[in-house]
Amino acid sequence: MHKLLFIAGTRPEVIKLAPLIHAFGQQPLVFDCRVCFTGQHRELALQAFDFFNIQPDDHLNLMQENQQLSGLTALLMEALEPVLEEEKPDFVFVQGDTTSAFCGALAAYYAGISVAHVEAGLRTGLIRSPFPEEFNRVAISKIAAYHFAPTEAARENLLREGIPEASIIVTGNTGVDALLWAKTQISAKKSPELTAFQQQLDQKNRQIVLVTLHRRENQGAIMDGMQQALSSLAMRYPAMLFVLPVHPNPRVRAALEPLAGLPNVRLIPPLSYEIFVWLLSVSYLILTDSGGIQEEAPSLGKPVVVLRDHTERPEAIEAGTALLAGTSPEAVVNTVSRLLDDAAAYHAMVERCRQNPFGNGRACERILAQLVSVFNAQ
Ligand code: UD1
Ligand code: UDP
Repeated sequence: MHKLLFIAGTRPEVIKLAPLIHAFGQQPLVFDCRVCFTGQHRELALQAFDFFNIQPDDHLNLMQENQQLSGLTALLMEALEPVLEEEKPDFVFVQGDTTSAFCGALAAYYAGISVAHVEAGLRTGLIRSPFPEEFNRVAISKIAAYHFAPTEAARENLLREGIPEASIIVTGNTGVDALLWAKTQISAKKSPELTAFQQQLDQKNRQIVLVTLHRRENQGAIMDGMQQALSSLAMRYPAMLFVLPVHPNPRVRAALEPLAGLPNVRLIPPLSYEIFVWLLSVSYLILTDSGGIQEEAPSLGKPVVVLRDHTERPEAIEAGTALLAGTSPEAVVNTVSRLLDDAAAYHAMVERCRQNPFGNGRACERILAQLVSVFNAQ
């Protein structure tokens, strides 16, 4: 019996680790899977655990209103040490580049426990963009024993940093596995919450532009500029419905609030993953600074405009499933208008989504196979 501890703190970590927890959980005689939820996020992450029917074994309950990075890091390090001491896993799994993932890897390193890093090797090469995620993922790569890289480009980034070739496995992104699982669940049985949301949305045959924003490096003047760009776009395209599930971060909420008065803009609370996947699937265009949404959208045939200056997901730009707009209001308005005005350009992007550069839903299977071979070789 091999003991695995999955550490997750935020919504995207829960979503991207969930199909892996399901996969390992299907071999209960071989793997004892434990889940530590740091509580870096609260309702966002709990909704996701709920959808995937996963009950965390530990809940550290760390979230504070408008939390700052040093305080969160200190709380995580204090709280994780006794969990590792108690659980004594053979492997700690962390995902991506959040503060929970970084602290999970660091605490495991201090405790002498091997780390497996899911979604390894994403890089912009700019230590402050995204902030603090670029630092977090570089630091995790120094610690991890196994690096599950979603793409060949991520693998090459790791090789350039001297990570041993044998420890890197290209898998695809587990977020695509999660999305495909969610789609099957939704087609098998829609929840009453989804039915209620569909009724409330009041779409009236309007095409939907779905918008999400949250990145720390964009908060402040840049996000105010985005708000102005979105306001201009909503006025320029009155027949389209702009739907913004707003991240609960108080700074994000405050920046987007001025859009509330526009007749074709809906500022709504963050959506459960089930409802969000449905909304993605019926949207015309996605505008976002999210990482995970760029990976999911191609599998639903939806073009993305990335509201960021730099990207660690160049695969989407190269494959033509996403456009990098930058963050200046003029650039955002111009990039989005070009796509909304030019049906041929839009449909060419839809066509390119047929091949999702981030995977085909088999990432978890590959990670599981690697762990099985590691343990068999011992
Ligand atoms: C975090 C991650 C980021 C990831 C994002 C996904 C870090 C440094 N950042 O950013 O990489 O892309 O999550 O969403 O780890 N809040 C709530 N309820 C929640 C969640 C958040 O009220 O369920 C509010 C709280 O006031 C909290 C604030 O949002 O303090 C910010 O949350 P935090 O986890 O610190 O950072 P994010 O900006 O969400
Ligand atoms: N998501 C969700 N509800 C929302 C917005 C996003 O369930 O209202 C999901 C989305 O499908 C994706 C993940 O949350 O799987 C992305 O999270 P976020 O954008 O917060 O973080 P990032 O991916 O940028 O780290």
